[in-house]
Amino acid sequence: MLMYGWMKWVEIAPQRYDWAVTVMTFGRLDHIKERIANEVRAGDHVLDIGCGTGTLAVRCLRKSAYVTGIDSSKYMIEQTQRHASEAGLADRLVVVQDSVTQLRKHFGDGSFDLIVSTMVLGEFPREYLSYVMRDCRALLRPGGRLIIADEVLPDRLLTRIFYAIGLGLLWIPNFLLLRRPLFPIADLPGVIRAGGFQIKSIESWAASSFKMVSAESPILDAATPGMVP
Ligand SMILES: C[S@@+](CC[C@H](N)C(=O)[O-])C[C@H]1O[C@@H](n2cnc3c(N)ncnc32)[C@H](O)[C@@H]1O
Repeated sequence: MLMYGWMKWVEIAPQRYDWAVTVMTFGRLDHIKERIANEVRAGDHVLDIGCGTGTLAVRCLRKSAYVTGIDSSKYMIEQTQRHASEAGLADRLVVVQDSVTQLRKHFGDGSFDLIVSTMVLGEFPREYLSYVMRDCRALLRPGGRLIIADEVLPDRLLTRIFYAIGLGLLWIPNFLLLRRPLFPIADLPGVIRAGGFQIKSIESWAASSFKMVSAESPILDAATPGMVP
C-alpha cells in the first residue's frame, strides 16, 4: 500500500503519472510489465484490468495481440488510447470505461486468452477480489492464462512489521486525500486459487513488496470426477 498511496497521489497529477511511477518503483513496475508482455503470443486476445495510462496494454499490442483495456477513469482511458495511437497500434485496441465489477456486462464467456492486471487489485476489499477473480475465470477460454502483479504484504515477519509501520503512518494522509481506504493483499496466490485457477508461478523480488502470480484456467474434462464444466 505504500506504493499504492504514492500512485494514487500521482493520479491526481496525471501528466506526470508514468514518469512518477517509474521513479517511485525504481523501474520495477516497468520491468514487471515487460515480463508480462513477454508472455503474450501473437494473435492473443488480452484483457488489461485497470489499464491506467496503457503502458502494459501498449506493450501487449507490440506483441501483435488484440488488447482490451478497462478502467473506471475517463482520463486513464484517454491516455491509453493516446499512447496506442502514438505507437500506431490503436487498430487492435478496444477500451471500456467502467468498473471491474462490470466485466461480464461487456464481455462474453471465453472471450480472452490472457487477462493481465498490475497495481489494481489492492484497491478492493477481499470479497470484491473473489468476485473479480470468478468473473476473470468465466471470461478466459479454458486453458487461458491470468497474470497479476501487485503490491502485497511482505512474507517475512520483519519486513512485514516495517511495512505495517509505514502503512500506519500513511493511512491518515492517504485517507484524507483519497477519501477511500486501500487494502493490502495478504495472500495474492490464495485469492487467485479461490477463483478456480491453477497457479503456475509466483515471483517476488528482494526489497520489494511486489508479487507476480501466473495462473491458468483449468481445462475441464466432464469425465473428471468432481469437475463441473
Ligand atoms: C495504481 S493505478 C495502476 C494502473 C496500471 N495498471 C499500471 O500498472 O500503471 C490503478 C488503476 O485502477 C483503476 N481503477 C481503480 N478502481 C477501479 C475500478 N473499480 N474499476 C476499474 N478500474 C479501476 C484506476 O483508475 C487506475 O487507472
